[in-house]
Amino acid sequence: MTETLAAADDFSDRDAAARDILTQNDRGGYTVPTDGLYPYQWNWDSAFASLGFAEFDLDRAWQEIETLFSGQWDNGMVPHIIFHKPDPGYFPGPDVWGCNGPIASSGITQPPVALSFATRLLAADPEAGAARFAALYPKMRKWAEWFLKWRRDEKGAIFVIHPWESGRDNAPDWDDAMSGIDPQDVGYYERRDTQHVDASMRPTKYDYDRYIWLVQRAKALDWDDAKVAEGNPFKVADPTMHFILMRGLRDLLAAGEAQDLDTGDMAAQLAELEAGADALWNPGMGYYDSYNCNNGIWSNALSNASFLCWFGGLDAPHMEQHLARVLDAAPYGVPSLAPFDPRFDAKRYWRGPTWGMMNMMIGEGASERGVALGEEVRKRTREVIGRYGFVEYFDPMTGAAAGGKAFTWTAAVWLAWAGKEG
Ligand code: DGY
Repeated sequence: MTETLAAADDFSDRDAAARDILTQNDRGGYTVPTDGLYPYQWNWDSAFASLGFAEFDLDRAWQEIETLFSGQWDNGMVPHIIFHKPDPGYFPGPDVWGCNGPIASSGITQPPVALSFATRLLAADPEAGAARFAALYPKMRKWAEWFLKWRRDEKGAIFVIHPWESGRDNAPDWDDAMSGIDPQDVGYYERRDTQHVDASMRPTKYDYDRYIWLVQRAKALDWDDAKVAEGNPFKVADPTMHFILMRGLRDLLAAGEAQDLDTGDMAAQLAELEAGADALWNPGMGYYDSYNCNNGIWSNALSNASFLCWFGGLDAPHMEQHLARVLDAAPYGVPSLAPFDPRFDAKRYWRGPTWGMMNMMIGEGASERGVALGEEVRKRTREVIGRYGFVEYFDPMTGAAAGGKAFTWTAAVWLAWAGKEG
């Protein structure tokens, strides 16, 4: 199938292979991140899938985002997993989450890249997309407002209430908050992820016990936003969420104005988020960072999320030297944690590996803000995907493939960005 290696630098067959992956992972209206390991619709994976589809089937691209919003809750939240059809191969499934949205789903959200990407579908063909965009617009605004109401701390930074909400499941950013959880009453459960992927590339049991404990806690509170937030031991201000929401609001505002749609308070909301970004600046380390909202402790983690500042729309010239440093240390793209951090683990998921879709947001954002290294990030991402395949993530030191195979967002990132030369 599609995972054969191309001869060095001859990646001419990769576009077709990437399209094949999107088509194979299409389950009829929504796309799974990869067969087996992730058998449902995941929120931000799906948004990337739509960008990939937009390269060859714009109608299907719109459908991906529309299907995602069909799972939106009454409060505006768009879940991180939508369980369209039962699949016993995944844990934790719908019964563990116990949620009451319009479609069985998880009870947490994920970074709202779909807000920005919907505006790109519109830009690709404004005439064909205008009505579909207008229909999604109030739903997208409602999701953004839900973040501002339920996921913003008193300093103005957007936080997450579960590591899975950020999408960076086992990043060191969560270590301090996770250490405050005692999961001894979590009960027996059987992991399924390690049946698909080598355990050395996945979160540990220590992490997993806490992931499930947090789900059980929120389920017992019936997923009530106020009760879940109150006294939650896991509340971490997150640059992933903050910068991606900032970008989403900015893109929605511009597209809404151009389309003559009701933009409401969005300009003021965006200004508040821009001001709130200051809260994520770690003055001791001199970079954007996450912190535990419950005790103010910084993660001191120079992660790939730190570099989403440009995607968020900040100039952030002081981040350029940090990007240069991590690119010097890791030849195959922006690592999820700087290799000179003692917590770095080259193959363990979000504690070291490089991810195509993060590289895309970093590279594009940097190039938009005039940071020359943005193009270098694209070239390295092209090289690593072209050589090692459309896998979930890569060892940033050797380029070695890691995690799930035939991955939707890696294929989409190839089509929409990394594979585009000149
Ligand atoms: C998992 O099951 O590992 C997912 O990352 C949750 O979103």
